[in-house]
Amino acid sequence: MKYKANRVLGVKPKRRLQIIFFLCICFLLVFWFECRIFSQGLNRKGSRHKFLEKFREEEGDTLWHGESGESSVNSISFQVLSWRPRALYFPNFVTAKQCQSIIEIAKSNLKPSGLALRKGETAESTKGIRTSSGTFISASDDSTGVLDIVERKIARATMIPRSHGEAFNVLRYEIGQRYVAHYDAFNPAEYGQRSSQRIASFLVYLSDVEEGGETMFPYENGANMGVGYDYKRCIGLKVKPRQGDGLLFYSLFPNGTIDKTSLHGSCPVIKGEKWVATKWINDQEM
Ligand SMILES: *[C@@H]1O[C@H](CO)[C@@H](O)[C@H](O)[C@H]1NC(C)=O
Repeated sequence: MKYKANRVLGVKPKRRLQIIFFLCICFLLVFWFECRIFSQGLNRKGSRHKFLEKFREEEGDTLWHGESGESSVNSISFQVLSWRPRALYFPNFVTAKQCQSIIEIAKSNLKPSGLALRKGETAESTKGIRTSSGTFISASDDSTGVLDIVERKIARATMIPRSHGEAFNVLRYEIGQRYVAHYDAFNPAEYGQRSSQRIASFLVYLSDVEEGGETMFPYENGANMGVGYDYKRCIGLKVKPRQGDGLLFYSLFPNGTIDKTSLHGSCPVIKGEKWVATKWINDQEM
């Protein structure tokens, strides 16, 4: 009777202990597994977070870079001045000191600026179109290294390799001097086939100009087109030169045809003097 009373659900006491023990082990195992999975999840998240934070503190937002890449993050500010033509403005692209240095190098070699002539044009017939003085300097000819720095920065900002750039054309415009509206790209119908085409132009203003001397885009956003625009007139989008600032505009559409709205010129200087360095960027290596 006693023996029978000790049986629960028909299981002997000794067997009962074994079952309880077994269940306890199972429970512990499940608990242990859960804990492991949970803590791993936390750890992974935690350490990844910590790693990123540490990385950001030490390296800025730098990513691992390719062999041809750079290890630092650069910030180059810009303002979109226009989509037609595609024109970008870069405030403080170079320092005042760098501007001064470029002017010093150019000063001793200034000659009246030339023009690429269309079929049938002569130096005499194009007199007055471009009245500035200038000189070509390649970065390798500048022992101060300033043009090298500027050229690298232009290549970074445009993501077009330096090898596609012509030598810097450093220009001085004195009072009354100008460059009437023109295209930097060469229209094959007017100039014949050439081995390379200019894609874009990067201007670096080396001086402030007290009055006048703006870079003008008379056809900006399609204005003044097809109404007999007089190429000497200073109208449309005007960019006032400011020492150290850069101006980039594209002469070609992405499909390689000439963007007619990239017509531009330099308004006559009214007061002061204008110094500018131009880098023409081509579709071919130079
Ligand atoms: C080239 O692109 C421009 C602008 O997107 C477009 O107006 C023009 O028709 C295109 N020309 C050709 C030949 O595809």
